[in-house]
Amino acid sequence: MAEEESAREEEKSRVLVIGATGRLGRELVRASAAASHPTFALVRGASAEDDDDTERSLLLRSFRTLGVTLIKGSLEDLQSLIAAVEKVDVVICAVPSKQALEQKLLIRAIKEAGCIKRFIPSEFGADPTKVQILGMDYGFYERKAEIRRCVESEGIPYTYICCNFLARYLLPSLVQPGLEAPPRDEIKIFGSGNVKAVFVTDRDVANYTICTIDDPRTLNKTLYLRPPGNVYSMNELVEIWEKKLNKELRKVRVSEEQLLESIRDTPFPRNMDLVFVYSAFVKGDHTYFDVDSSGFDGTRLYPHVKHTTVSECLDTLV
Ligand SMILES: NC(=O)c1ccc[n+]([C@@H]2O[C@H](COP(=O)([O-])OP(=O)(O)OC[C@H]3O[C@@H](n4cnc5c(N)ncnc54)[C@H](OP(=O)(O)O)[C@@H]3O)[C@@H](O)[C@H]2O)c1
Repeated sequence: MAEEESAREEEKSRVLVIGATGRLGRELVRASAAASHPTFALVRGASAEDDDDTERSLLLRSFRTLGVTLIKGSLEDLQSLIAAVEKVDVVICAVPSKQALEQKLLIRAIKEAGCIKRFIPSEFGADPTKVQILGMDYGFYERKAEIRRCVESEGIPYTYICCNFLARYLLPSLVQPGLEAPPRDEIKIFGSGNVKAVFVTDRDVANYTICTIDDPRTLNKTLYLRPPGNVYSMNELVEIWEKKLNKELRKVRVSEEQLLESIRDTPFPRNMDLVFVYSAFVKGDHTYFDVDSSGFDGTRLYPHVKHTTVSECLDTLV
């Protein structure tokens, strides 16, 4: 029995998570370990051996308890990257998007190591090749698209994960940039209010991501996430929230023109939340296209994955 178990585990790809202490990264580590993949976490600096009670040390200790191997390294250190990449079959990167281009050294390490069967670069948002806000986003999506071009030109096997919004972003304020909790009296509705966007929790994104890594169907494809119960327009979000509060909110309509004016009048980077609202809820960048031959809908491919709905997320805020 134990032999069978270890034989099954041997068939599972070994996974390296970069950005493992981050909010998405830690869920990727947990999902990988939970799916019995031998899991490695690249951790910066001396922190891999910290033994105090900081949140970070507790997190690293929890990784060790799950059987995760911690490896010291950073995106700036090619040798540490090669040494880490050589130990695994799959690399998943979850560093913040402002550091997207720093993945170029990682791509070089993957190329030199020559053993990687799947690379999942740090995207985890809207599809950078499909968004309709180019020129407005200060290179946010262009940097991710550039990494795609590098991956593809180096012939590295990949899967791109387009989860759209993480539920921790904008949903906690019910899409009211600047607020930290959902409004209880008055709410701004951007554009027509009928354009649908997608919110998925970090944990669910991690679980779907881990499903793809040994799946031949997702090789060199994009996985789009649009789970049922997670795709809503602003009008629908407000309706769900009003039902939970048992109260009707005053609606302030913000036209496309007014939103564009606010984006222009708000200095970067504070205007980025408004840019993302414009992209998702006015231009429809999460949902305007059908998932075509370049990709798959994750919820259809992996119907067994249990996901948290927007309504369940909002329940925690009532
Ligand atoms: N769609 C959305 O709504 C949305 C929202 C937020 C994020 N995201 C995406 O989610 C992904 C992860 O973001 P996050 O917010 O979870 O990140 P995060 O919490 O800020 O964590 C970043 C991680 O990257 C690590 N890191 C930073 N620089 C590094 C370097 N030079 N070498 C090695 N590791 C480094 C950090 O390590 P330390 O602990 O050592 O600092 C940390 O583990 C990104 O792709 C981002 O675009 C999407």
